[in-house]
Amino acid sequence: MLGGRSLVAPRWRREGHVVNPTTITPYPNGPLLVRGAFALQDEDGEPVPRHRRTIALCRCGLSSIKPLCDGTHKAAGFRTD
Ligand code: FES
Repeated sequence: MLGGRSLVAPRWRREGHVVNPTTITPYPNGPLLVRGAFALQDEDGEPVPRHRRTIALCRCGLSSIKPLCDGTHKAAGFRTD
């Protein structure tokens, strides 16, 4: 449990460029929002295509597009408290 707070990685440099820190923010009664520089991989280490800068990771376990959130948590009444 993150206690409603974001996890923020420190800024780091890659080939002389400052890369935005990665943040993971728990959305109340919903997914984990991930922003910044990161790579998403499946259980075999294969890259999962990413079409947006921010992604929502399912934490209710009910999504049909895991690991991403598809909004099912709302209909299911998922609660984080
Ligand atoms: S958190 Fe949204 S479907 Fe699971």
